[in-house]
Formats: sequence, structure tokens, C-alpha cells
Amino acid sequence: MTAVAAPHARIDPRALARRFPILARTINGHRLVYLDNAATAQKPDTVIAAIERYYTHSNANVHRGVHTLAEEATAAYEACRGRVARFVNAPDERGVVILRNATEAINLVARSWGAKLAAGDEVLLTEMEHHSNLVPWIMLSRERGVALRHVPITDGGELDMAAFGRLLTPRTKIVALTAMSNVLGTITPIAEIAAAAQSVGAVVVVDGAQSVPHMPVDFQALGIDFLAFSAHKAYGPTGVGFLVGKLELLDQMEPVLGGGEMIREVRLDWASWNDVPHRFEAGTPNIADAAAFPAALDLLEEIGMNAVRAHEEELVGYALERLSSLGWLQIHGPLDPARRSGLVSFYDPEVHPHDLAQILDTRGIAVRAGHHCAQPLMRRLGVPATARASFGIYTDRDDIDALVDGLIAARRYFGLA
Ligand SMILES: Cc1ncc(COP(=O)(O)O)c(C=O)c1O
Repeated sequence: MTAVAAPHARIDPRALARRFPILARTINGHRLVYLDNAATAQKPDTVIAAIERYYTHSNANVHRGVHTLAEEATAAYEACRGRVARFVNAPDERGVVILRNATEAINLVARSWGAKLAAGDEVLLTEMEHHSNLVPWIMLSRERGVALRHVPITDGGELDMAAFGRLLTPRTKIVALTAMSNVLGTITPIAEIAAAAQSVGAVVVVDGAQSVPHMPVDFQALGIDFLAFSAHKAYGPTGVGFLVGKLELLDQMEPVLGGGEMIREVRLDWASWNDVPHRFEAGTPNIADAAAFPAALDLLEEIGMNAVRAHEEELVGYALERLSSLGWLQIHGPLDPARRSGLVSFYDPEVHPHDLAQILDTRGIAVRAGHHCAQPLMRRLGVPATARASFGIYTDRDDIDALVDGLIAARRYFGLA
């Protein structure tokens, strides 16, 4: 395997693209320009090979058998836990719960830690959350009478930190927020928020679905309590996600799903729970995809997360410059590339985002159009939907140029340019 770039060096996106077989496809007669990485990233050859290797070589159920295959499968599955712990600098690999996705991870905290809350307690969220970090708390508030508070955003697309200071009170028991908005790209000041939350005794839950794949994330340095993210946005397989938590907090949590593997002892009318993290992993897990995910983390580490972030910051700066030069797009989120991730949401007041996405698809360009699972944020922005171009390690300036040409073509199609 050739090293693509030393840590902190510049990325060569063209060389990287060759390691992602799907990027060799043509779509509607054009080179595929994949700009939907915030929804899911493409998979490198090493991840695809690891899935095949697992099924052709080691397939068995985990934690149950003493035969060779069962031991190999268990080792591969558990290796994922250790690899994730190292990648995000978790304090203890037993604090890494392997689940299906970020959504399931946030739901686990909301249901299990949330069960400790009562009427009068508050959960502090933000206006820029994905539905995954809104709906589980709405469910908790319906069940337990807990009040939900939301930090507003400024017109520049950043969190209103003065309002955060006012909304954080001794009644706040949980602060749950994204580290990187999937619509605005905003990078939120997690360490500052975590320190403030700690001063009132609130537990901090970070939605890392967008941040973990795109910037260095250090669980311990951030001073947070829980971190949720999905493998599939980090160049890994779908169907695997993680809740990383402080062991002492996970130890105090009840399981949400009951069944095999999560118990210590079962009688006909009674059961006791296994240790953390197995207590939260009822039933046969997604072994093959967990076994393959370390190959994605190997690639990210080979490149270096500082280089990943630098590449996307450079690209988003270029994209902001080119898209704003068109003169007809509303561009959402902070305008300073240093304060945002490698994605841009934009709105053409005269062409619906779905029409834009369809016209771009005829040119082989994949972007997302819609509310991006952030309906409250769409209301705050005053738009029904946006189009979103989101970048990855294999994105380069040519892809952004193709997007801009496609947007001009769309305007022409509607007789607007
Ligand atoms: C910020 C954010 N949070 C959570 C999620 C949910 O991720 P998943 O569907 O993998 O659970 C997403 C996915 O788009 C996201 O962008």
C-alpha cells in the first residue's frame, strides 16, 4: 500500500480517488463527481477487500464459540473497538459501544441516561441539530416531562454563545450538540461548551457524525462525556456506528435492548447485566462491517487527520469563492473556511434544489437536495430546502469547477441565464 501523504502533508486527491473503485464509474456518460459525502462517503478498496476477506475466511458468530473461526471473528470484531478508541483517543476501549449508526448511539444515551431525568430538568440542544439529535430528546421530553431548550444560531450561521451562556443553568442536565453542522458546515466550540456544561454538572453528548470523518477529534481533550458517530461517513461500511462514553457513566446506565450477549445471568423471571460495553450490544452484531472499518481508519491515519482537515478547508474556500461569484446563490453558514467544514449548502431562489440536483445528475454530479434531516434549521434559514455539495478526501478543484458549470447549465435550462 503506497502512502498517499505523510501526516500534515498535502493530500493528493487524484491518487486517493484511484483507491475508491466506484469513483471510476461514469454516470449518464460523465465522470462521476461525487459531492454527497456528508450523506455517506465512498469506500476504499481496502474496506471492500476486508468485507470479502471476513466472509471468505473468518465468518462465525462472536463471543460464543471456542472454535477457530469464532475466535477469529471475535478478534476481528473486538479489534474494531480498540481501533476506534485509539482513533478518537477514548479513555478506555471498554467505553466504545458498537452499534448501527450515530442515530442509534444518541438514542441509547437519550433513553438510558435520559431515564435519570425528571420533570423540571432540562436538555440543552441547538437550532442546527440533525433530526438524530432532536427526535430522541423530543421522545424523552414526552415520556418524562423534561424541558428542551435550544441555543439559537446567529445570522452568520454560528452558535449564539451569549444565548448559550444564558440557557445553561443548574437545571440543565444534558447538553447535546453537533460538533459540525451537516447543513451549515459550522464547527462548534465543543471544548468551551463542555467546560461550561461541566461547571453546572451537565453531561455533554457530542454528535460527531460529521466531525469525526473530517477533522481531528480527541475525546479526552474535548472534555466530553459521550461521542456518537457512524462508520459509513468515515469511508467505512454502512450498518456500524459507535457510542464512545466515559466508562464511569456507561457503568451507571441500564441497557435499552434485552437479549443474547448482554446478560450475565438469566433465570425465568430475572436477569442481570453483562459488563460495559457488552450490556448495550444485544444480539448478533454487524460483525463483518465492524471487522472492515479499521481499514478505513488506517487510510485516514495514513493521510493524517490534520491533512484531511487542511484539504477540506482549502477546498471549501475555493468552493465559497466560486459559488459566490455566480451572484445568484444564497450561501448558508460561516463564510470563513477556518470556521466551517468541507461542505456548502446553497439556495437558488429561482430553481428548486431538487431540480438543480436532477440537472446536475445528468452531468454525473451527485449532490444532495432537501431539508437534510434538519427541518427546524430550514425554518430558521427561511428556505424550504437547500442543495448541498459536500467534499471528501478524493474531492479536488475540478469537481467544484464541474459543479459550478452544472449550476450555470441549470440556469440556462430554465431560461434564467
Ligand atoms: C450531523 C449528523 N448527525 C447525525 C446523523 C445521522 O447519521 P446516521 O444516519 O449514520 O445515524 C447525520 C447523518 O446525516 C448527520 O449529518
